[in-house]
Amino acid sequence: MSTARHLLQIEGLSRADVEALLAKAAEHKRDFKSGKRKATLAGHVVANLFFEDSTRTRSSFEIAAKALGGEVLNWTYKASSVSKGETLLDTVRNIDALGPRAIIIRHSSSGAPHLAARHVKAAVINAGDGTHEHPSQGLLDAFTLREKLGSLEGKRIAIVGDILHSRVARSNLHCLALFGAKVICCGPPMFLPPGLEQLGCEVTSELDAALEGADAVMMLRIQLERQSGESLFPSPREYARLFGLSVARAARLKAGAVVLHPGPINRGVELASEVADGARSLILDQVENGVCVRMAILEAFA
Ligand code: NCD
Repeated sequence: MSTARHLLQIEGLSRADVEALLAKAAEHKRDFKSGKRKATLAGHVVANLFFEDSTRTRSSFEIAAKALGGEVLNWTYKASSVSKGETLLDTVRNIDALGPRAIIIRHSSSGAPHLAARHVKAAVINAGDGTHEHPSQGLLDAFTLREKLGSLEGKRIAIVGDILHSRVARSNLHCLALFGAKVICCGPPMFLPPGLEQLGCEVTSELDAALEGADAVMMLRIQLERQSGESLFPSPREYARLFGLSVARAARLKAGAVVLHPGPINRGVELASEVADGARSLILDQVENGVCVRMAILEAFA
């Protein structure tokens, strides 16, 4: 296991680091199901610092910390002194002075957890920073894919949508590369960052070509909140027609192919409801696996 004190990004982790975390997560999943409990965090506090909204990630870290016997401080920017002008660093330093073992940070600025990590005693875990990375999501997606597909070596995985603004896509690209998967990124040209190929993937704007032969398809939400100025987004209907995973497109996927989405879903835009709730969908498996993956993260870093 790497000696890093914080989990800030997947980039830079080795395959052995990720394998160790995923093996621990599998152990936690088995134990959790059979009612076996570990109390590695007993007597310790984990602080959730979410400067951006969240449904899955925040609750998942909370359940994971409690499953390890820890206490959770749930801080939200809406009820905090951020509204009185307190800076990120002051907020983080003050929370750190309360003595948590780990601080889980989500922030709209890329690099915010990296900055925080340089000023605190606690372990910092990035729960999504701007358009940069979302490492726990990358890990739980890899866990879910391996659970269903077995080895990811040579598996064809399409990531579709707003790649430009997606921290989920970036973490997945780094993580899937470690496992030897063949990744195809697909989206409208304005949502494909220049130089994307350098992350080791194929790039296309033709959805049907991207889906051909895919073992897994990861659909992404359009991050309207991250588009400054004039929106790059056409109309939802046009987007759905060109880049949405419709019932017809899902029916053409190869047998056994699976569909993922990190949530929140814009039903009928990037993903048809019937597909989101259909037999190929692993969306709720992703959510379920988030808990054991985050238990492994907290155990390794907190
Ligand atoms: C994502 C996020 O916040 O980055 N959601 C999540 O954590 N599961 C994706 C999104 O907001 O579209």
